[in-house]
Amino acid sequence: MSLPTLDDLDGVKGAKVLARLDLNVPVKGGEVMDATRITAALPTLRWLLDRADVVAACSHLGKAKGAPDPAFSLEPVAAALSRALDRPVQFVADCLDGAAAEAAPGTLLLLENLRFYPGEKANDPDFAKRLAAPYTHYVNDAFGTAHRAHASVVGVPALYGPAKKAAGFLMGSEVASLGRVVNDPEQPFVAVVGGAKVSTKTAPLEALVKKVSSLLIGGGMANTFFLAKGLEIGRSLVEEDMVATARNVLAAAAERGVEVMLPDDVVVTDSIDDPRHIDVVNPDAVASDRMIVDMGPQTRERYSHVLSTARTVFWNGPMGVFEVDRFAAGTLAVAEALAASSAFSVVGGGESVMAIRRAGVVDSIDHVSTGGGASLQFITGDEMPALVALEA
Ligand code: 3PG
Repeated sequence: MSLPTLDDLDGVKGAKVLARLDLNVPVKGGEVMDATRITAALPTLRWLLDRADVVAACSHLGKAKGAPDPAFSLEPVAAALSRALDRPVQFVADCLDGAAAEAAPGTLLLLENLRFYPGEKANDPDFAKRLAAPYTHYVNDAFGTAHRAHASVVGVPALYGPAKKAAGFLMGSEVASLGRVVNDPEQPFVAVVGGAKVSTKTAPLEALVKKVSSLLIGGGMANTFFLAKGLEIGRSLVEEDMVATARNVLAAAAERGVEVMLPDDVVVTDSIDDPRHIDVVNPDAVASDRMIVDMGPQTRERYSHVLSTARTVFWNGPMGVFEVDRFAAGTLAVAEALAASSAFSVVGGGESVMAIRRAGVVDSIDHVSTGGGASLQFITGDEMPALVALEA
């Protein structure tokens, strides 16, 4: 895959550039709660601002339903972006307001949520045309949205010829790091996959089994694997309809000689919010009124050991009910083991990224992806519509 880079752009000096970013950040009470994606977009924005006349950043935010909704406004993001860049950001309350592009040279605009128009998700050609109309160049740095076939990442780049569109720095580094994991992983390649559900990660699990030497499973999805192995797991979260999928993953792994590891001790409780009992038991000894909420100390040690011998690691999804401190030990242990390992390490997905932050080990990880669904789709090897559109 060879994406056009910023240096490939022709005539960017004095240009009007539409920069598609993924500024889909958590906002509460008008404040940005986590600015990771804003920070990640800064190198590309700075590069463009040093050269172009007008840079119009655009993004989606939240689950807006094709109509304006103040709950999903990007206005608080404009303030955070302005602070991060230490320069004014002109917020444009309608992403199709082309007049804003007539701003004075040196202006940075932030256009309102693209998903306030149904045309964004529908990849509507008219919406794409109207969005692109005022801009001479297009840059896509929204890796987190690269798996979506939406107008701003597919229809819009189709309107720009070669040397008028490019991937930004973030997009380039995401594709390079995840590409190294998918295409050329140094063995042993270990994948750690957690999170609540098998159903959201079926395709990545099936793809990873073909590439890894060990697959370490944790979190709620391990429960479905326990069920597939015939264990009774009390009131633990399970997906009965995913048991067959879990069995298929286990069978495919066995056929290839891939080791699939499941916790061999688990933390169980009677209640997540108000526990009266918290115990560590074997997975075949979970009482009918208990639920599994984390992996136990023996598993933490075993998984950490496997990670210490890996040369490549991909991690997505927490190992337990990580948002509750007392059930976060398994997830934090994986974060720490990954940081201590000399493997090339890539972490994707909001909660795993939060875990490496909480463990204070971000700097020891080779690549922290800004994409959740996007990094999983990339790892799966499925086509990424936004990348295809940039290459065309
Ligand atoms: C994400 O947060 O994963 C990206 O911004 C994509 O958001 P979406 O799942 O709402 O398309």
